[in-house]
Amino acid sequence: MAKILGNFRLALLIGIVLLVAVMVGLHRGMMDAAYWMQFSRFLHVFVGILWIGLLYYFNFVQIPTMPSVPAELKPGVTKYIAPVALFWFRYAALVTVLVGLILAELIAPGYLRDALMLKQPRTTIGIGMWLGLIMAANVWFIIWPNQKKALGIVQVEDDVKARAASTAMMASRTNLILSLPMLYCMIAGAHIG
Ligand code: HEM
Repeated sequence: MAKILGNFRLALLIGIVLLVAVMVGLHRGMMDAAYWMQFSRFLHVFVGILWIGLLYYFNFVQIPTMPSVPAELKPGVTKYIAPVALFWFRYAALVTVLVGLILAELIAPGYLRDALMLKQPRTTIGIGMWLGLIMAANVWFIIWPNQKKALGIVQVEDDVKARAASTAMMASRTNLILSLPMLYCMIAGAHIG
């Protein structure tokens, strides 16, 4: 048992096999276009959780704890944990946006355009999309380039490094703030308009 659960890839694979079993068991007879639209909604929420979960890990755990980590232990976080967390963080952000955009077009032609133009009855989801797009831009164009400097993936002077760490932290905090109305609009937009 410890061998299976100790292996991340194997555990993930078992999760996927169980997912397929549930899908086939419950919905075998209804796998038409509408079903796959529904499935892309599932994928969107799954990668969205991965993204926002890591955003919350940075804001709830890593950033507040770093100042109290002894200097000789800090590289454990900056060299080993943070680069892996940032990898999943930025690609989960990208896939969430891509699947979200595809999902919108699958729900109905013109849905995406109306939502982005904040037209009724798509205003709520449109606000959620704009907030999500701002957050994704923050991840790729502010947090990641600055984290590369802060974590030493790109070599820079010490003062540039300190400024980059502060900029990345502020962009991350901005995303923490935006994530609450974003998530509210996503869920309300999908269910109550
Ligand atoms: C960044 C751009 C994003 C776009 C274009 C987008 C697009 C969409 C679309 C089209 C829907 C379906 C609405 C409907 O059924 O009428 C949706 C629902 C949803 N999205 Fe997003 N989304 C984005 C970001 C996010 C993020 C970052 C999350 C974080 C978890 C998220 C979580 C959700 C949730 C929970 C739902 C509701 C699913 C349901 O209850 O049916 N979305 N999104």
